[in-house]
Order: sequence, then C-alpha cells, then structure tokens
Amino acid sequence: MVKNNEKAFPEGFFRGGAVTSFQTEGAWNEGGKGPSIVDARPVKEGQSDWKTAVDFYHRYKEDIALFKEMGFNAYRTSISWSRIFPDGEGEVNEEGLQFYDDLFDEMIANGIQPVITLYHFDLPLALREKYNGFASREVIDLFDRYARTVFKRYGHKVKYWLTFNEQNLVLTNPDFWGVKLEGAENEEALRYQVTHNAFVAHAKAVKSLHELVPGGQMAGMVTYMATYPNTCKPEDAIANMKAKELLVDFYFDVFAHGEYPSYITSDLKRKGIMPVFEEGDAELLKDNTVDYLSISYYQSQTVSAEKADGNWLISGVTPNPGLKTNEWGWAIDPIGLRVCLKDMYARYRLPIFITENGIGVREVLNENNTVEDDYRIEYLSEHIKQVKIAIEEGVNVFGYLTWGSTDLISSGGSFEKRYGFVFVNRGETDLRDLKRYKKKSFDWYKNVIATNGADLSYKESISVK
Ligand code: BG6
Repeated sequence: MVKNNEKAFPEGFFRGGAVTSFQTEGAWNEGGKGPSIVDARPVKEGQSDWKTAVDFYHRYKEDIALFKEMGFNAYRTSISWSRIFPDGEGEVNEEGLQFYDDLFDEMIANGIQPVITLYHFDLPLALREKYNGFASREVIDLFDRYARTVFKRYGHKVKYWLTFNEQNLVLTNPDFWGVKLEGAENEEALRYQVTHNAFVAHAKAVKSLHELVPGGQMAGMVTYMATYPNTCKPEDAIANMKAKELLVDFYFDVFAHGEYPSYITSDLKRKGIMPVFEEGDAELLKDNTVDYLSISYYQSQTVSAEKADGNWLISGVTPNPGLKTNEWGWAIDPIGLRVCLKDMYARYRLPIFITENGIGVREVLNENNTVEDDYRIEYLSEHIKQVKIAIEEGVNVFGYLTWGSTDLISSGGSFEKRYGFVFVNRGETDLRDLKRYKKKSFDWYKNVIATNGADLSYKESISVK
C-alpha cells in the first residue's frame, strides 16, 4: 500500500470534478439551443458525434446525486453560449437560461458550488459565419453581452468563474475561437490579433463580473504543459525558456500584470506585426487583472534546441523519454505539476485553482459491472500528493478538480478515451442505455474527500495500462 503524504488540505479546499457543456450535455438542438462550431465539426469515421454526449442535459440529477455521494463541494462546467443566445446575438433564449438555473440550483442543494467557464471552444456557429469569430471586434462586444447576461442571472449562485478555457491555445488554434485564417494577408499577424482580441474580451468579462457580482472571482486559465530543457546544455535551457514564454508566461503575465511582456512585444515589433490596440485597450487590460489563476495539467515534455527549427510558433518540443505515458502518448509526470505550481506562485502570488487533471484510458465494464481502474487511482494519488507538497512549500492552491466525473466525450470527439469515476455505458456510435456504473476509483475518491485529502493510499505497483 502506498500511503503518500498524510497532511490534509486546508479548510474549505475545493474538491470535485470538471467538464464542459458540449462534452456532457447532448441535447444539441433542444431547449431552443442554436448550433455551435462544435456541432458543425466534421465527425471522424467511426467516432461519436456531439449530439447526445452522456445526456447530462436530461440526467443531471442522477449524476449530481453521484457527485454528492463522492463528497464533491465543487463542480466545473461551462455554459453553452448558444443555449443562451442561439445565434450569439439577438434575442436571449429564456429556456436556455432556465436550464442553467435549474442545474445550478440542483448543485447547490447538494452542497456543490458551481464553477463556471464562460467559453469552452463552442462559439455560436452564426458568429463564425457572420464575423469570422474572435477575429472581429463585434464578437468581443457580443461576448461581453453574453457574459453580462449570465452574471446578472446567476451572480447570486455562482462566485467562481473562468473566462476562456485554456486561453493559451488561441495562438496555435484560433479555430477554437471560431476564426478561419484562410485569406489572411499575414497569417501570423492575424493569429496575434485574435490573441489580442481574446485578451480584450477576457478583460471586459473581468470588469463586468466585478461590476455586477459582489465577491465574484474571475480566473485566467491556461493549459500548463510542464516543459524541461532536453539536456543541461545552455542552448536547451534558453530554447525551453522561449517555448514556455509563448506557451504559458505570455498569458499569465497579461492576466496578472495587465500588460504585454517585453519578450513578446520586442518580437512582434521587430516583425512589424504588433496587434492593433484600439483606444482604451491598454487601460482595460491594466485595470482588469484576475482574482486567481487556473490551470489544466496533464503531462510534461522537453524542449530541444537542436529540434527547434526557428519556426515562429512553439518549436523544438519533444517527448520526455524518461517517463511512462498513457495510451495517447501523454507523459505521466506528477512532479511536473508541482514544478508548474511553484513557478506560477513565485511569479504572480495569486491564488491557484487546478481545474483539470486526470488520465484518459480505454476501458470496458468487467463481469461485476465495474472497472478496476487502479491506474487512475495511482495517477490521481500521485498528483494530489504533489499538490499537497506544493501547499506545504507555501503555494496558495485553493482547489483541485479532476477532469471528468462521469466519462465524457474527449476533445478529439472520441468516446473511447475515458476519464470518469463513473463509467457511462455507451460506445462511439452505439448509445446503448447510457447507464452509469461506479468504477473502483469512485470509492477511492470518496475516501480522499472524506479525509480532506489526508488519505491518498492505493495499492502499490500498478502501472498505467
Ligand atoms: C483539456 C480540455 O485540454 O483537456 C478538455 O479543456 C479536454 O476539453 C481535456 O477534454 C482532455 O483532453 P482530451 O483530448 O483527452 O479530451
């Protein structure tokens, strides 16, 4: 039995799970919802579409009862913008607003604080077609209108908010913000303009929350992939530093300090592609910094100067050969999480909320209608242990949420990569009965929560499948 460190989390620590609307809800065209860019994604051969997901829209009471049984005191999901404004603009959809009212009421009645992401890569489709998504300033204003609508409606129920999920993906994946790059005069300049527009939209949402919701707490969030120099060569150290600046630091610097860091502006000015700052943008960013920082954490990689090809985007990132991986090649690195937490806290001194961490695995129900997911227990136990050590070392972490609670559709649109404590009986295209079954990790997590993180013990010598 591995006991791990026995110290409990601080009082009031948030523990629970995290998901999104489109990866769980289904009901893609019910309740007056309009289509989002996720609904319009081409479905890969043999994979799930997004229409049903795990049918959380109809089954949330059953799922929340299971979360309560595990002892969750927080659950992160996102609001689907196109449930609230089916076309992203125009008339508000009362049925969509009512759905989240009912959902949040149910969570609160079960002792679970909703933690809400405003935007998780699911722009109302009409805004991509009409405006090219966040390439347009119009969409910034529409996002603010949507944000203000939900703050006014739910501000007395929801205190912890996140603007954009993993905002640091905007430069590499502007399509997640509804932007098509085709036809751009200068593609790199457009990527940075969209990145700037996302910062402006983020800052406006921070401002609106603070105006409308007393005590409202807003995060800036990134996906934090820990990176290490590939060797002890100084060349690798500087290559790693540069990759990290573009991958992570740029975003935290703007969220926390309210201005572009000089390592970014020097580069953009040299290339002549500084984004257009409209009047008031610089002040808006400066005056509306965040209340806390949030990360998703799954894996680490290394950066090699030799492999960096001078490409303007993140370059030279290679797998860390010393670590085990999951079936999708994601390196398992619990200490990497502590490295990230310590670095963030030393730089920004802001409270940190870990809002995603977990392992995706191909799983089937066994003859006892459960899954013996010891690999998940080990993964989570080792990561939580590092969080507790980071706290002992002075880092202010106030919550930890696993990715998934029930199984859900993965970001790539596949159902075979399962993350939950609760198995959902469906296949890729075969929806079966969608029944819920507790995995072994269900009781393990319940005990972790019951002991406020003091008991992380698990059976030794299980390696990840
Ligand atoms: C995060 C996203 O990047 O990772 C989620 O916020 C996603 O939407 C999660 O599902 C896990 O990634 P994946 O690809 O395994 O689903």
